[in-house]
Amino acid sequence: MTTTSSGFSDRFILHRDPHPARMATFAEDVRASLGSRPLWLSAKYFYDDLGSALFEAITRLPEYYLTRVERDLLATYGREIAGALDGPLELVELGSGSAIKTRLLIDAILERQPALTFHPIDISADAVTESSLALSGAYDRLRVVAYASDYFPLLREKRLATTDRVLALFLGSNIGNFEPRDARELLELLARALRPGDGVLIGYDLKKDSSILELAYDDPTGVTAAFNKNLLARMNRELGADFDLNAFSFRARWNDKHGAVESFLVSEPRQRVRIPAAKLNVDFAAGETIHTESSYKFAREEIVALAKHCGLAEKTTYTDAAVRYALSLFTVV
Ligand code: AVI
Repeated sequence: MTTTSSGFSDRFILHRDPHPARMATFAEDVRASLGSRPLWLSAKYFYDDLGSALFEAITRLPEYYLTRVERDLLATYGREIAGALDGPLELVELGSGSAIKTRLLIDAILERQPALTFHPIDISADAVTESSLALSGAYDRLRVVAYASDYFPLLREKRLATTDRVLALFLGSNIGNFEPRDARELLELLARALRPGDGVLIGYDLKKDSSILELAYDDPTGVTAAFNKNLLARMNRELGADFDLNAFSFRARWNDKHGAVESFLVSEPRQRVRIPAAKLNVDFAAGETIHTESSYKFAREEIVALAKHCGLAEKTTYTDAAVRYALSLFTVV
C-alpha cells in the first residue's frame, strides 16, 4: 500500500489502493449502457463538479427531507450513539466525511475521550483529501487516516488499520443507491472487517406514501431534473455528444415491487443522438427512457433482517417524529 503523508498536517495520512482495478472509462461505460436495450446510465456519473453542486442544492430542497432529517437525528441522538459502545472509539466512514453530520458525531465522541482517529473511505482521492484536511484543520484532537479506494476491495482485503473499538458510519441513505445484492455484500464485508462489539450506524430512508417520495425525487423547482439532465450535458462536454437537453424530460416513479424510486430521462421525440467518443449513435423511439438511478427505501424490519443476515445485531433505531428517516445502530456479533 502506498502511504502518502500530507505536508499540511502531521495528523493526516492517505492510504491509496495498492492494486487499483482498471476502471472502465466514461466512454466505455456509455457505450455499454446505451449500446443495448434497456437503456441506462450509471448513477456514479452524476457527480462531476456541476453534478455535485446540483446534489448539494438537492439537499437544501424542502421536498428532499432526507439530509435534513438525518442531520437532526444526529444532532439529537449523537451523544447517545457515541455513548452506546464501550470506548474509546475510532470512527470509520464509508463515503464523504466532510459533511456537517460527521462533525456532529466527531463532536459527540470528543466530549467523551481526549483524541479520535477518523478513517474516511472514498473512491476519490481528491474528495477524501479535501475533506480530511478540512477536518484535521478544524479539530486539533483528530487524526485522519484516509483511504482512497473502492469500498469492496478495501474491506475484502481487510486493509482498514483500526486498533480501538470502531463505530462505522454508512450515512446519507447511500445504502439506497446500491442494488440489493451489492448492499448485502457490502454489509457482509464490513461486518467481517470489524471486530465483535464494533458498531455500524446506517442512515436510510423509510418506505412511505409514494407521493412524498416522488416529490422528493422530482421537485417542482426542477433541481433534480437538472441533476439528471447534467448526465446528458456531461456526455456532450466530455464525449462530444449532441444531446438536445430540451428534447428530454425527467420522471421519477415509486416502484412498489422493487421498493425503490426509479428515475428516468425520457426522449420526447423520436431522435438520433451521436456520441463520438463512445463510437455510438443511439436511435430513441418517442417516449423511450434511460434509467438513471434507483433509490431504494426500506422498512426498519427489512434493514434489520438484512443486517442480521450479514452478522449485525440491531442495538437501537432512531427515527424522526414523522417516521420519514431512520438511523439504525448495529453491533457486530
Ligand atoms: C446520494 N443518494 C443517497 C441520493 C438519493 O437519495 O438516492 C441521490 C439523489 N438522487 C436524486 N436525489 C438525490
